[in-house]
Amino acid sequence: MADLDGNREAERFSADIPADSGGFHVKGAAHLDWGMKRRLGNIFSPASGRTVMLAFDHGYFQGPTSGLERLDLSIAPLVDHADAIMCTRGALRTSIPPTADTGLVLRASGGPSMLKELSDEHLALDVADAVRLDADALAVQIFVGGEHESRSIRNLTTLIDSAAPAGIPVLGVTAVGRELTRDARYLRLACRIIAELGAQLVKTYYCEEDFETVTASCPVPVIMAGGKKLPELEALQMAQRAIAGGAAGVDMGRNIFQSNNPRGMLAAVKAVVHEAASAEEAFDLYATSAG
Ligand code: 5RP
Repeated sequence: MADLDGNREAERFSADIPADSGGFHVKGAAHLDWGMKRRLGNIFSPASGRTVMLAFDHGYFQGPTSGLERLDLSIAPLVDHADAIMCTRGALRTSIPPTADTGLVLRASGGPSMLKELSDEHLALDVADAVRLDADALAVQIFVGGEHESRSIRNLTTLIDSAAPAGIPVLGVTAVGRELTRDARYLRLACRIIAELGAQLVKTYYCEEDFETVTASCPVPVIMAGGKKLPELEALQMAQRAIAGGAAGVDMGRNIFQSNNPRGMLAAVKAVVHEAASAEEAFDLYATSAG
């Protein structure tokens, strides 16, 4: 391992030079096997190379979150309108029809509730069950700088190794605890660790400054996490900036299902991500669509 003394600050990100994705529409995936590419193709649109994922896995640590009290009523009608959904197997089996026309990313970690230390997670899904559910990817969090950093990274690598024989990609999520800074330097570190350890996708938060260095220095697609509910125009502006900064899509939960018009918000986010609509144009779409 390189020693850490006298390390030079990384600076040559060349964010203006797109990575060569080898003719496949997903960054870093050119040399993957057919099945893995097919699953990534179920998440990322071949036309835009991007994705709009709807996250509703919140209940696995915080119970019946606002907007998710009844998954059958609030979420099931939305799923066909997202490129992919991110949820737990319990939510999927109980509340989402198997006819859903969408990519599937299954939450594969869990353990502590919101009452305890969140980094104290374990893997909570067997790959055999993910195969049974026809998952297109599995999601696990790492807590870089967190109390259980090392175990969370072990969860990631264990999942990557067990999902690879089934051809299932892994989405590594950079969990940011209250005590950790969401700046580009931190996010570059966490995203790069996830990619270097073998995950095919990364989900991370947007940061106002130098977000393009986070995406440029990560050799796999970076999907922007939504975060707390914002006014719709602000959420769309954040999505627009993230896409301009090189994000390969967004994975939004509360900013969609806590909106007064979740279906309209999903359509607006898709316009930003896939059609290069400005946040203002997309907001008009949201404001004029029926709730
Ligand atoms: C937590 C997750 C959640 O799925 C996701 O962050 C929740 O979505 P949102 O913050 O947009 O409500 O990955 O690590």
